Amino acid sequence: MGHKEWLAEVNFLGLVNHPNLVKLVGYCAEDDERGMQRLLVYEYMPNKSLEECLFYSFQPILSWSSRLHVALGSARGLAYLHEEMDFQIIFRDLKASNILLDNDFNPKLSDFGLARQGPAANDNHVTTVCVQVVGTVGYAAPEYIQTGHLTSKSDVWSFGILLLELLTGRRAVDRNRPKCEQRLLAWVKPLIGDSKRFYQIVDTRLEGQYPLKAAQKMAFLASQCFQRNPRSRPKMSDVVEMLKHIVVLSDFGSPCYSMTLRSSEQKAEVLPRLLTSKDRIQSLRKRISSMSRENGRIVLRALSRPKMAQTW
Ligand SMILES: Nc1ncnc2c1ncn2[C@@H]1O[C@H](COP(=O)(O)OP(=O)(O)OP(=O)(O)O)[C@@H](O)[C@H]1O
Ligand SMILES: [Mg+2]
Repeated sequence: MGHKEWLAEVNFLGLVNHPNLVKLVGYCAEDDERGMQRLLVYEYMPNKSLEECLFYSFQPILSWSSRLHVALGSARGLAYLHEEMDFQIIFRDLKASNILLDNDFNPKLSDFGLARQGPAANDNHVTTVCVQVVGTVGYAAPEYIQTGHLTSKSDVWSFGILLLELLTGRRAVDRNRPKCEQRLLAWVKPLIGDSKRFYQIVDTRLEGQYPLKAAQKMAFLASQCFQRNPRSRPKMSDVVEMLKHIVVLSDFGSPCYSMTLRSSEQKAEVLPRLLTSKDRIQSLRKRISSMSRENGRIVLRALSRPKMAQTW
């Protein structure tokens, strides 16, 4: 880590405070015979990074609900940086290895070395910051790569790619795959809108245990995030709201993909187990009441009209 990155990290992490951003416990820089030695100490995150949990074969498979939990928390962290402080921070290096996971798989964004202060909110003329292009291949927005013009919408693009990784269990760029599948976005794009072939993009390791409607909504949200025109991409606070709808849609028990394929005999075995499960209903209630503390109005509407989740 260079001095500039180290300083940026110390400065930004000293200012921010959010449950979905990693806490900086300490730092030091010392000059010795090897030159300047720089150290950053983060809070310890027992589940390491999303990269390990999602892509390493020796790890247990991340369930659909854990994936949604990670997506929602990461979106909240980014929305805080973009919209909830006196000034805006553009993260610039959103990727699976920079999302750390605590004991309960709560995600926290880490690595603020490339973060930049965004344009002032009331500045109508300067809407972009012009910077040297840095970041990670496969995640960086095209307009940023081409022009160096950075906006918060560059982070939104990266978030779209992250959603695709969660959905597919594939890396943004994977040189070990056949050529036409190496770039996740190019591989996924023609399949997203094709209802007959959509199932092909969802992580096969989930073994069909995901609500099809919710997965389609997630893919649609991802495609909004990686629209060519940065202005057409949603703000992160909008992304947070859409993800909350997807969580509700998943919890209200839209049928799992595997159930739509099973024979009616197999369905008869699975359905009663799902529908009569008191635990499932109780956990749903708990989830809704905790969400209603954050945003009562939206959840009350969701309770009275479960299909509301389909309106965006
Ligand atoms: N606070 C932490 N608690 C537990 N593990 C951590 C913590 N911070 C980092 N790690 C582990 O260290 C790994 C490497 O993180 P690091 O940020 O150094 O590299 P990277 O994100 O893979 O690459 P880059 O240098 O591009 O950021 C992470 O994937 C994670 O497994
Ligand atoms: Mg990192």
